[in-house]
Amino acid sequence: MESRPVSVPNFLYGTAWKEERTPALTELALRVGFRGIDTANQRRHYFEAGVGQGLAAAYRAGVVTRAGLFLQTKFTYQAGQDHRLPYDPAADLSTQVAQSMASSLEHLGTDHVDSYVLHGPASGRGWSDADVEVWAAMVKERDAGRTRLLGVSNVSLRHLEQMVTTSAEAPAFVQNRCFARLGWDREVRAFCMDRKIVYQGFSLLTANPEVLRHPLVAGIAARGKATLAQVVFRFAQAVEMLPLTGTTDAEHMKQDLASDRLALSADEVRAVESLAG
Ligand SMILES: NC(=O)c1ccc[n+]([C@@H]2O[C@H](COP(=O)([O-])OP(=O)(O)OC[C@H]3O[C@@H](n4cnc5c(N)ncnc54)[C@H](OP(=O)(O)O)[C@@H]3O)[C@@H](O)[C@H]2O)c1
Repeated sequence: MESRPVSVPNFLYGTAWKEERTPALTELALRVGFRGIDTANQRRHYFEAGVGQGLAAAYRAGVVTRAGLFLQTKFTYQAGQDHRLPYDPAADLSTQVAQSMASSLEHLGTDHVDSYVLHGPASGRGWSDADVEVWAAMVKERDAGRTRLLGVSNVSLRHLEQMVTTSAEAPAFVQNRCFARLGWDREVRAFCMDRKIVYQGFSLLTANPEVLRHPLVAGIAARGKATLAQVVFRFAQAVEMLPLTGTTDAEHMKQDLASDRLALSADEVRAVESLAG
């Protein structure tokens, strides 16, 4: 993984949809061995303060230190939020980014995150003036030391192409839902590969039921004494993806982390890559 910035783990634990279980599941994920945590300052889907509680419990118990962790959170436009906003909706977008970041740092009990991600562009059609303003504000947060790296999420190839022509700086990460039927987001991954952007894939299991039913995947799992999920996650890592899992099950956490021990041949990787699209 030469293109990967230093100290980015090879798996991220996702904290969406866990509500009151967020502190305990975050702590459990750290105890099991995850060292990368993904969250967002979007109360509708994430309980970021609960992630902070889980981190604090793990620090107290000596499981991990802040320096040993990769923490990622996101800025979410008002359109993606409910009424529980982490900023003043009347403020301009740059101020909203600064307020959302300050609130994230408070929730997570830290003075910086490792990655700060734009949760999704303002429009599905292309990279807009709003995105240009928000991205510039995120660059300022980075320059002020409040995040090491920056990313974008839920983007198309068109968004990315427009982004790199209108913004001075490309992202370090792209985080997308990864559909096997689109060649596992082939076009966006190729764009990322060319520019040494790390592609983070989510919904690798839930977006791809046809993969989990496929005899090729079952055959690889049987050969490697692995689970179907491990084949998918190991494949993702083999094509230089950084996979996310939000499992709530301790056994699945262990299995997901252990997927990097499964050896896949180049032929198997190619076959899985083109299995559905
Ligand atoms: N940027 C965005 O807009 C965005 C959108 C969605 C998600 N995300 C991020 O991605 C993270 C992961 O979300 P996801 O959509 O990939 O879904 P997920 O929350 O990881 O859900 C995976 C589902 O598969 C099941 N599963 C069965 N076997 C599993 C195994 N071995 N390992 C893992 N799961 C297994 C899980 O059940 P069990 O719990 O019983 O294991 C769960 O129901 C989120 O928490 C969030 O951080 C980001």
